[in-house]
Amino acid sequence: MSPLPSAGVAATDIDPFEDSVLLEPYDVYRSWRDAGPAVWSTRHQLWILARFDEVKEALLDHETYRSGKGVGLYPAANSALEGTVLASDPPYHTRLRRVLAERMSPRGLRALQDDVEASAASLVDSLIEERTFDAVPALAQKFPLTVVAKLIGLPDGDQGQLLEWADCGFNTFGPGNERTVRSMVKFGEMFEYIATLDADPGKLRPGSMGREIYEAAERGEIRFDQCGRLMAAYLMAGLDTTISSITNAVHLFGTFPDQWDVVRADPARIPHAYNEILRIESPVQAFRRTLARDVRLGDVLMREGDAVLLLYGSANRDERHWDEPDRFDVRRRAGDHLALGFGIHNCAGQGLARLEAHALIAALAGKVARFDVGTPHRHLNNVIRSIESLPLSLVAERSR
Ligand code: HEM
Repeated sequence: MSPLPSAGVAATDIDPFEDSVLLEPYDVYRSWRDAGPAVWSTRHQLWILARFDEVKEALLDHETYRSGKGVGLYPAANSALEGTVLASDPPYHTRLRRVLAERMSPRGLRALQDDVEASAASLVDSLIEERTFDAVPALAQKFPLTVVAKLIGLPDGDQGQLLEWADCGFNTFGPGNERTVRSMVKFGEMFEYIATLDADPGKLRPGSMGREIYEAAERGEIRFDQCGRLMAAYLMAGLDTTISSITNAVHLFGTFPDQWDVVRADPARIPHAYNEILRIESPVQAFRRTLARDVRLGDVLMREGDAVLLLYGSANRDERHWDEPDRFDVRRRAGDHLALGFGIHNCAGQGLARLEAHALIAALAGKVARFDVGTPHRHLNNVIRSIESLPLSLVAERSR
């Protein structure tokens, strides 16, 4: 760990994980970007990287910016997640990543496409009947929960606590604040549940992703004791992230109806629009790395062993990289955003997230003329930027 940074190096005592910052982070992020390429957090004794170029460079240089010592701030949670795909370095990480690579590839996901699109269409039809509802449980949570539980092959009736576990799992990446400490207990319950699957993988549906993980262990590609953690990573990472992005989509299109009109007039724009949604409201706000050597950024010298917080949510609003970054514009080519990470740890489930979100937005674009959104009630999580409830009325095409 570095001694205190030298004079002239920017430092901050604002805590990125305190309620007020989680609620409204963007002005604070801007002040950190303006302060320098790296800002020392006196609160957490780590470097904060808030600018686009520096975050992207760190994500690309996995030999310097290591994940193996944990990507969160709380030591007990980092130990619990040690050796997961998220918190590992090559060559071990390469092996873990390979296990599900084919299934998560565009070719592997094609097998799911018809099913996902049909579920999206039927969900939208039933919501149009309902007309007014809370968009979070009825739309944003319901869809990924069904898709991910089915993909992993969980036994029927075992979806009950997945959402709570995923929320707690992401909280544990934070520092030792109340949210983290409270979440550790629930997080433990998820590992107890996973242990029951470890004991009897036959409970997982044949042909599912969960089964495939245990089959890879039978072939000797990974160890048996890695299976549960690998499954947990996909289970956790696949829920709140996608849920946040779908809620944000509805909220943004409700707030900016002209942008919804652009998408409806040209549904080929949906993939670009989804990138813009991920850019402007990035579901994952931050993960940590540890330096394997000294690094100089401008006048700042960061030392080997230092912890570094990568702020994806700030990089995606950096005015050094984006024109008018606070403006939501579905015509923008936002494909190089960092919301899904970059480099070797880039999101392993991004194909699935895109498949789900594109299917839902397309189904909505065919039937919904306007979203009347009420005031969102924010949900505070140490890492995921999300909304707890969002009153929504759908104005269907024919009733316009
Ligand atoms: C909009 C939705 C999503 C967002 C914003 C998102 C975001 C991210 C980000 C930022 C990372 C990089 C972590 C790092 O830099 O250390 C990541 C990694 C990962 N994501 Fe996603 N994710 C999403 C959906 C999913 C889905 C649907 C799944 C699986 C079902 C998934 C599984 C994973 C896994 C396993 C990793 C670890 C990859 C590695 O470390 O090699 N994610 N995700």
